[in-house]
Amino acid sequence: MTGTESLKEQAGIAACQFITDGMALGLGTGSTVRYSIIEIARMIEQEGIEVAGVPTSEDTRQLAEMLGIPLLEIRDAGSLDLTIDGADEFDQNFDLIKGGGGALTREKIVALASEAMVVVADDSKQVSTLGAFPLPVEVDGMAWDSVRDGISDLCPGPVALRGGEDEPFVTDNRGYILDCSFGPTISNPLDLESRIRAIDGVVEAGLFVGICDAVVMASQDEVSTLVKPGGRLG
Ligand code: 5RP
Repeated sequence: MTGTESLKEQAGIAACQFITDGMALGLGTGSTVRYSIIEIARMIEQEGIEVAGVPTSEDTRQLAEMLGIPLLEIRDAGSLDLTIDGADEFDQNFDLIKGGGGALTREKIVALASEAMVVVADDSKQVSTLGAFPLPVEVDGMAWDSVRDGISDLCPGPVALRGGEDEPFVTDNRGYILDCSFGPTISNPLDLESRIRAIDGVVEAGLFVGICDAVVMASQDEVSTLVKPGGRLG
């Protein structure tokens, strides 16, 4: 296992400290939260906890099914107790860029349906200003080029169709993704999110503002749990 992979594993496992018996969980998507999902399966099998999860992507659904984690549909779950998910970037306000794996729309729906959200990350994801990671925006495939033009008016760098025109990446919702190179300039993510969402054809933007309550971050030296002051886990 590489150094980064080990950090992901440590963060993914440590985040399961927030899980208690009987919880309904949002199960995120990505290579870090994958370790949380494996740990949840272990807790079910070895500790006998009873939990159920709502997956945020078809990949996560397959993984959870393979591991024997009971699953729920979000419409049947009502409110979830906790979502654990990865992030591409997080800042000091616990605001996030997500969608590197293309699952941002379901990830946001599930996170917003949850009483609390914990992010798992290695320390490379911590930034002072969001935007070095190109912001993923899910769009209706029919309108991707007009949305690209609309976002280009807001974005100082290139706005690229993920996968390219010949073989666009297709999300679980049959949408496309635009990766928007803002650079580390997103000082008001709430304002940018509302401007992007106002463009016709946008399904969802990968800015998660005021949603995350804690980050479990692994670095070479330690795993730290950063809890948002005044957040739902504070
Ligand atoms: C998927 C996501 C992921 O959570 C994000 O890309 C982080 O993934 P990883 O843990 O693999 O770096 O938002 O849409």
